[in-house]
Amino acid sequence: MSHATKLIHVTDLHLTAPGEKLFGLNPHERFERCLADIEKWHGDAQFCIISGDLADAGQPEAYDWLRECLQDFPLTTHLMIGNHDYRDTFKDRFPDAPVDQHGFVQHAFDADAGRFVLLDTYKGGTSAGQFCERRQGWLRSVLDDAKDSPVWLFMHHPPFDISIAYMDRIKLEDHAAFAALIAEYDNIRHIFCGHVHRPSYVNWRGIPCTSLPSINHQVPLNREAVGKAYSYEPPMYATVLIEHDQVTIHLDAYDDRQAAIM
Ligand SMILES: [Fe+2]
Repeated sequence: MSHATKLIHVTDLHLTAPGEKLFGLNPHERFERCLADIEKWHGDAQFCIISGDLADAGQPEAYDWLRECLQDFPLTTHLMIGNHDYRDTFKDRFPDAPVDQHGFVQHAFDADAGRFVLLDTYKGGTSAGQFCERRQGWLRSVLDDAKDSPVWLFMHHPPFDISIAYMDRIKLEDHAAFAALIAEYDNIRHIFCGHVHRPSYVNWRGIPCTSLPSINHQVPLNREAVGKAYSYEPPMYATVLIEHDQVTIHLDAYDDRQAAIM
């Protein structure tokens, strides 16, 4: 019996109202090319997860456009929210999106590779993230229920510093409580983050963690290198192949790929 799971991780679409650019870029066209590339090359993936900042400012038109856009996308796609989303608007525009008993946009599901847990770290009124006691309680019950199954966590805000001052100020505010909760379980195999707007790998308390570039604008590793808070660097999506003895993640710069001159 195979326990392999192949999934696609996409993050930080920052969709505006259709027709509106963001920092000189068209997030809609960039996301459409992303979906087309995934469909063409990774139609064998079992599902796709988009880890928040679906909209740039919680625009209902952005959610409506996203809903329409995903109707033609063949992979089951799980949506999460980030600090640029508005939880209530998201829930209004995606009434079928699963929520927990308190109405937070978080849910868990089981696949061949184990349990996938998608957290709601939205606070509102700040770019930083929150994981309050009610959300912690839900996570604890989901982790208890998973028993010995491998657990794959997705969360918009990283619960750790990544040595970029701009980001470290707006990480998960409740990181200490989150770390204490996580420390009670030894089956959490990976944390997939959004929010960072760049590719990174962190090993946090023994747990491998990865982040991805945004589909739109990026956060430069050194702000001084561009003189601005944001930069143009290639968008990427991740292919994640989970097998019984190996996790393989590729970050693919789908929008900047061209044949080499040979
Ligand atoms: Fe973002």
